[in-house]
Amino acid sequence: MSMVNHETTAVGTVDLRTVRDYRERARELLEPHLFDNMFGTDDDAIGRTDNSNRAAFESLAFRPRILRDVSSRSLATTVLGQRLEVPIMLGPIGDARRVHPDGELATIRAANAAGISMVLSMVSSVSATEIIEAASGPVWTQLYVLKDRAATGRLVEHLAEVGSAALVVTVDNPGIISKDVNVGRPPQDWGTLKELGILETLAVRRSMIENIDPAVTWKDIDWLRSLTQLPIVLKGIRTPEDATLCREHGVDGLVLSNHGGHTLGDQTGTVARLPEIVEAAGETEVYLDGGIREGADVLAALALGARAVLLGRAQYWGLTVAGEAGLTHVLEILRRELDKTMMFCGVTDLQQVDHRLLTSVVGDRFIE
Ligand SMILES: Cc1cc2nc3c(=O)[nH]c(=O)nc-3n(C[C@H](O)[C@H](O)[C@H](O)COP(=O)(O)O)c2cc1C
Repeated sequence: MSMVNHETTAVGTVDLRTVRDYRERARELLEPHLFDNMFGTDDDAIGRTDNSNRAAFESLAFRPRILRDVSSRSLATTVLGQRLEVPIMLGPIGDARRVHPDGELATIRAANAAGISMVLSMVSSVSATEIIEAASGPVWTQLYVLKDRAATGRLVEHLAEVGSAALVVTVDNPGIISKDVNVGRPPQDWGTLKELGILETLAVRRSMIENIDPAVTWKDIDWLRSLTQLPIVLKGIRTPEDATLCREHGVDGLVLSNHGGHTLGDQTGTVARLPEIVEAAGETEVYLDGGIREGADVLAALALGARAVLLGRAQYWGLTVAGEAGLTHVLEILRRELDKTMMFCGVTDLQQVDHRLLTSVVGDRFIE
């Protein structure tokens, strides 16, 4: 049985003017249990909501500056030295064929069109080889450290060989959450793992979660560092102590993330933690995810020190509604909103952005 009814899709109609419009259309298209399992419900007792991440953004307000000649604006930045036309990346989201038959091929085509990069999930339905071939720019690949370290090592070597530009190691999911999001999709659809023959060697084939090693420590990060020349980014950092450890262990970047609210309940919201994480991270680049729904959110995250943001749910809603075209439109909406917010704030270049752009109830110590 198909999980998605694509017959009613429409892109660019008046109904689809915001990311939230895409969410509501996705809600209509997906079977309710799948939508709720992936994105959470408002009263979700096990904490899959993004309420705290949204509340943190909503507690921020801009301090717009005027008379600054905003006639031309640049939205471009770099991450690990790679150019992004917009400071947005598509974060790792497992198995995109759950919501659209083109899966991650739709994702990479939309990323190409927007001049941005994607982070390919380890449990993607399309293999890293195919995605990197289809990409016009760098692709980062996400990894969970498995109980089977030999398989993990083979995977890392393979990802480097096929041209991954960075390794994003997710460290906030030691094997509990999201068991039920694989509903309806057999794991043999995980492209890269299938290509490498790793699926056959996994202890548990039904769910990746049970193969992820909860015993992982910083020693394993050192091991990964010794294994590959690829830049390493840790995803799921939430404290300055761990941001400091990232720096000490030679990590190249970190993603401040609470897995979109899927992990430990978080009353703070990721953007509220940014200033202390950025301070502790030093030269290590900091990216943020969790709750990005508008262009203004992107500017606020950059003002608090993020180098770029990653999209989770927003990309999936675009894919659900209309595959590549839907995600391309979602990215265009965010780009236009970011551009407009910059214009109204008196900002022409992202390098000009700092905490003085914001006022907030998050903590006055960050505001001059
Ligand atoms: C349906 C779904 C699947 C996800 N799959 C992965 C994954 O395979 N690997 C990973 O590191 N994070 C995964 N995440 C977490 C996202 O990368 C990201 O941290 C989070 O969704 C960001 O919050 P947002 O959804 O509010 O943008 C997933 C999130 C969702 C909602």
